Amino acid sequence: MNLEEIKMRRPLIAGNWKMNGLTADGRALAAAVAERAKAGDPGCDVLVCPPFTLIGAVGAALTGSPVALGAQDCHAAVSGAHTGDVSAEMLKDAGCAFVIVGHSERRADHGEDDATVKAKAEAALRAGLTVIVCVGETEAERDAGKTEAVVARQVKGSLPAGATPANLVVAYEPVWAIGTGRTPTPADAQAVHARIRAELKGLIGGAADAVRLLYGGSVKPSNAKELMGQPDIDGALVGGAALKAEDFWGIVGSYA
Ligand code: 13P
Repeated sequence: MNLEEIKMRRPLIAGNWKMNGLTADGRALAAAVAERAKAGDPGCDVLVCPPFTLIGAVGAALTGSPVALGAQDCHAAVSGAHTGDVSAEMLKDAGCAFVIVGHSERRADHGEDDATVKAKAEAALRAGLTVIVCVGETEAERDAGKTEAVVARQVKGSLPAGATPANLVVAYEPVWAIGTGRTPTPADAQAVHARIRAELKGLIGGAADAVRLLYGGSVKPSNAKELMGQPDIDGALVGGAALKAEDFWGIVGSYA
């Protein structure tokens, strides 16, 4: 990959708030992030993904700022008898531009397999959202030397038809690194990202060079810069550290 191709990937720092926050917390956190973002171009795109209940309040708090709004999951269907679910069209209507699908917590807690994730990702594209497809190996898979094979299989099985660099982001989140304070070395993370890009190249051709690949799993202000400095790591999907504006902005600051 040459320098021009690297440059055309504007990094993305995304906060996944998971199942956290009541209205007042969400509003305050979003307002604090929006305020920092209004102070000047941080050198990357910034996204927050609150729980469904806070999408309206967070969207209002982000108004007038460059911070994008996303959700953490969607159903594959447009509408219908799916109690408790939310469609991609509903998310778009509520002001979202992004949706995360296939997070390992969804794969584990709700038995979502690659085919389910692919259907959800295709729903996201149908609705005009940008989809963040998550992949990542478990600790047992890593210990068995299967990391790259598992991640390649997940990318292949979860990739929506019609994916382009404008509507697809892939997040590599090793399951063992999520919420544990442990991370792969930057070199190990880079190796997996390079494998993901190679897999994408086989699926969508040269456009893969422009697809943003995020790293997720225990990203903090103290480790972000080194991880974000790897050639195939184009940003981060941040969990715990996204719940404090100062920490989240410290990670965004990797691109200052
Ligand atoms: P942590 O940053 O809390 O490890 O969570 C990562 C994650 O799962 C983001 O989607």
